[in-house]
Amino acid sequence: MSFTIAIDGPAAAGKGTISKAVAAEFGFAHLDTGLLYRAVGAKVLAGTEAVQAAQNLQSEDFGDADLRTTKVAEAASKVAAIPAVRSALLDFQIEFAARDGGAVLDGRDIGTVICPNADVKLFVTASAEVRADRRFKELTAKGDQTDFQKVLAAVIARDERDAARDVAPMVAAADAITLDTSDMSIENAVAQAISAIRAKYIPS
Ligand code: CDP
Repeated sequence: MSFTIAIDGPAAAGKGTISKAVAAEFGFAHLDTGLLYRAVGAKVLAGTEAVQAAQNLQSEDFGDADLRTTKVAEAASKVAAIPAVRSALLDFQIEFAARDGGAVLDGRDIGTVICPNADVKLFVTASAEVRADRRFKELTAKGDQTDFQKVLAAVIARDERDAARDVAPMVAAADAITLDTSDMSIENAVAQAISAIRAKYIPS
């Protein structure tokens, strides 16, 4: 049985936390597709050409702690606008989505391009300030020296680039359920996501 859940949304909206919780709740596999673009971005920062990097990703490329930095996020969003980078990453994501036992994928174009026929599509969002605040807390907890205004500016710049690109721009699929988590605790956001999925998912 395959059952695909597509979770899209802007930077630091809580997609990762919600996706992991949903995958654990239903026993599905989870793919954070942002990590693919972050791994390519990190390779580009280290000197590799973007398309070459995307065509040659290895599992060990995902273990680097630096992948979560603001610098790598920015590089990721630049390489993500290159059509040949996106097409190099396409088959892996489509195959993952179709795997037996159910899959949750989170990203920007899951409900629109990767899995247009996903069983459930969520678009998770929140105000830029709330998202920047969450990302700021995440970064400072890891010991990163940064300030809130910088994080806010980086989040806004990345969202603008992701929404404006020609290929697979960040946009809610017409049939996605939007979850605005600005005034929601993460527990509440997870509970709402789970109940939206439960309404469609009948375990065999
Ligand atoms: O964790 P956060 O929401 O900040 O970002 P991410 O999901 O790790 O994605 C990093 C970047 O990769 C995004 O800003 C996008 O430019 C790109 N991305 C994309 O283009 N398509 C996806 N399906 C996932 C990420």
